[in-house]
Amino acid sequence: MKKVGVAILGLGVVGSGTYKILIEHREFYKKNHGVDINVESVLELKTERALALGIEENKIAANIAEICSNPEVDIVVEVMGGVEPAKTFVLAALNAGKSVVTSNKELFCKYSHELEKTARKNKCGLFYEASCVGGVPVIRTLIDNLQGNKILSMTGIINGTTNFILTKMSDCGASYSEVLKEAQRLGYAEADPTADVEGFDAAYKLSILSSLSFHTKIPFSKVYREGITDIDIHDINYGKRLGYALKLLAVGKNSDSGIEVRVHPAFIKNSHPLANVNDSYNAVYITGDSVEDVMLYGRGAGALPTGSAIVGDIIYCATHDNFNYSTFNNTEKADPSTKFVTNFESAYYLRLDAKDKAGVLSKVSSVLSKHNISVAEVIQENRKVNGVVPLIIVTHETFEKNVNKAVDEINSVENLAKVASVIRVVS
Ligand code: HSE
Repeated sequence: MKKVGVAILGLGVVGSGTYKILIEHREFYKKNHGVDINVESVLELKTERALALGIEENKIAANIAEICSNPEVDIVVEVMGGVEPAKTFVLAALNAGKSVVTSNKELFCKYSHELEKTARKNKCGLFYEASCVGGVPVIRTLIDNLQGNKILSMTGIINGTTNFILTKMSDCGASYSEVLKEAQRLGYAEADPTADVEGFDAAYKLSILSSLSFHTKIPFSKVYREGITDIDIHDINYGKRLGYALKLLAVGKNSDSGIEVRVHPAFIKNSHPLANVNDSYNAVYITGDSVEDVMLYGRGAGALPTGSAIVGDIIYCATHDNFNYSTFNNTEKADPSTKFVTNFESAYYLRLDAKDKAGVLSKVSSVLSKHNISVAEVIQENRKVNGVVPLIIVTHETFEKNVNKAVDEINSVENLAKVASVIRVVS
């Protein structure tokens, strides 16, 4: 039987989950795949983590060089996260002829071109299913199953922490900061939550998924990004009255106007399947020109779900002799011919703090109409909050530049209204 040796770099949540799956399923993989996958080595500074998993001391490597020179190791699994030292370790493994399986979205998003070049040179495999949306099999779906399509768009909830926070805010009516504390207490949010709540994690993943979808490198720098830290519970509540759920959405589109890639909070109609993706669950809704709509849903994080994606890659690597590389033009920058759309077209939700006097609504409407913005829905409260009356306006589809100009103009008029929130509405 073919024997395949694995080394795991990092025994945090995902590394430990991967180890457990490999140990528990070893006989199952032998029987079903005809391959004996053995964990030969681990690299983990906190050796107590390895010992707690029952890993023998002689399998705990002192450094990456020891793993690279170990002839029993065929596949190196990188689950450390961050760019360095992960990048140095992955390049060392590839240069030593080891195939690599990684869950590292930041590393793959920023350096996929360099990693792939090194993998090709050394005829090694490079796999990254676990880098995006944890256990949800979206990468191989794009690489293999959907290749017959021109992908027109993808809209995803691809960060579990922010989805957990927004779901709890909506369910409990609590503020962002209250729910963040609860999420940290429960272990959903990190002590430093910046990468999740400011949308970096989702933007790394969208960069990778849109590169695969649109067949050209979509650099991280081209992904428009806004996080959820300024979300006000009042907007979630008004959104509910309008029949919307608020989500941190990742949106990628490819049209005649060009490619647009953006991560930001957005309202989505309750009737859309993504509106019902709650708590820490993730989903990606893909539209292809032939297949039409496909939605993949599941756990975007966690030891066993992400471990499932990693082990799937390990088995694929262990059972294939020739490796395929990117199905997109994997260069450092986007192809110079790629046009990026930055003046997004969307419907918008505006919350204004309006002066309580006659003619305000008509003046606001005339500013909107001057900028070619058509109003779809209005809620005007008849009670004052802190001396002003909340005025909620939902527009029809329009261009973002028009909305920004209208907001500036409304804010500049004395004694009219101040725009408190602007949130995109995704149809
Ligand atoms: N921190 C990520 C999330 C999981 O909250 O979805 C790993 O990508």
